[in-house]
This record gives sequence, structure tokens and C-alpha cells, in this order.
Amino acid sequence: MIKLQQISKIYGSGEVATHVLKNIDLEIKQGEFVAIMGPSGSGKSTLLNILGALDEPSSGTYTFFDSSINSFSKEQLALFRRYILGFIFQGFNLLKKTSALENVMMPLVYQGIDAKSRKEMAYKALKSVGLESHVYYNSNELSGGQQQRVAIARAIVTNPQVLIADEPTGNLDTQRSHEIMELIRSFNQNGITVIMVTHEEDIASFATRTIYLRDGVIERERTHAL
Ligand SMILES: Nc1ncnc2c1ncn2[C@@H]1O[C@H](COP(=O)(O)OP(=O)(O)O)[C@@H](O)[C@H]1O
Ligand SMILES: [Mg+2]
Repeated sequence: MIKLQQISKIYGSGEVATHVLKNIDLEIKQGEFVAIMGPSGSGKSTLLNILGALDEPSSGTYTFFDSSINSFSKEQLALFRRYILGFIFQGFNLLKKTSALENVMMPLVYQGIDAKSRKEMAYKALKSVGLESHVYYNSNELSGGQQQRVAIARAIVTNPQVLIADEPTGNLDTQRSHEIMELIRSFNQNGITVIMVTHEEDIASFATRTIYLRDGVIERERTHAL
């Protein structure tokens, strides 16, 4: 599904150039649940942002099925993110003083879906994360765990092929983290490919495969027994 070949990322140039990613080769198959681990500053977020087409590599190629993402225009990249990918961030990034339902409907506005269908799809997505009784709560009236559920509903409401998550449980306690991970795993088992950054082994253990980054290179990887 996804193929990275010799991906490098360099910030700055000359004396101050920092090689954040060094010749990364990585293949991800459809249906996989991949965790990316590594020390702070090892390049995890940079790699995830390249996979999420939020950032461009300095060199190397990114292929998605038969498409060369490198050759995409800005507009094509926006469509790729909007229709193919779903994003979950550590900080939830919900609109405050806005209902859970409105938050989840938002990505559908950009897809030009009519208001009635938007509402139905958003309700269904919120139901799938166990929040059907909270659809009219404003996001700031919800707990951290509930807010992350809204964010997950917003990420999956467009039926993405790939879910991209950067430390999705970073702001949650252990109990809430594990509930969120169970939920992400259930979406993966329903067919969504998941790529997630975490620095916690117990969170990575929900994945089917873990990639360990160190100083911008893949140091090793591990396939998990199910
Ligand atoms: N926009 C940027 N400009 C310069 N350096 C950056 C930028 N973004 C990240 N870096 C550097 O790249 C390295 C890797 O960052 P990052 O991918 O965020 O690591 P991680 O997510 O593993 O903690 C860090 O040393 C960081 O300081
Ligand atoms: Mg990071």
C-alpha cells in the first residue's frame, strides 16, 4: 500500500543542516497496524508527517499503491489527505464551544456532502465510538477520553483508508489510553490501516508491528504475535 524509498529529511543547510531522517526504506501493507517508537527527537513525528503528506521529504520517493505522492500538486496532496487519510493528534484539536456532532461533520463540509447526510454520517461515527448520547455536548464539556473519541469519530467519518495518529493517548491516563487503543484496534480490525507514533511500549503493543527509530534511521523492527 505504502512504500517509502530512501526518504531523507534535512532541516537547514550548510553548517547548521540537521539530518532528521536518513535514507528510510519502509513498506506498509494494507490492513497493518504499525507503531513507530523511538526516543524524543529521533524523527518520529517528521516521518509520520511525511506519511501523512503534511510535510515533504528532502529526497526519496513515497508511493501509495501506484501513485507517486512526490509528483502530486498541492491540490492533489490536499485531496489525498482529505479522502484517503484520517488524522488523530495528541491534543485532540477540536473546536471549542462547538458540539461533538458539528466537530465530526466538519471534514464532510470539505467533501461537499449535503447537510442531511453530514449529520447522519457524523451521528453514525459518534455512535461507533460510544458517544451517541453526547452528540450535542460542546467539546469543552467532555472529558479528555471523550474528546479523543470525538477526534477519532472525526478522523473516521470520511471512511479513510489510513489512520495517522501522533501520540493519540499522550494526554490520557492509563485506563483511558487503553480504551482508546481498543477502539483504534477495532477500526483496524475492520480494515483501516493504522500508523501511530508512541513512546510507550504498552501502547505500541496494540499494533501488529513496531518500528524503532533512532537518530533518523530504522534501528530495528518487531512483528507482534496476535
Ligand atoms: N521545522 C523544523 N526545523 C528544524 N528542525 C526540526 C523541525 N522539526 C523537527 N526538527 C528537529 O528534527 C528532530 C526530530 O524531530 P521530531 O520528528 O519531532 O522527533 P520526535 O517526534 O521523534 O520527537 C529534532 O531534533 C527536531 O528538533
Ligand atoms: Mg513527536
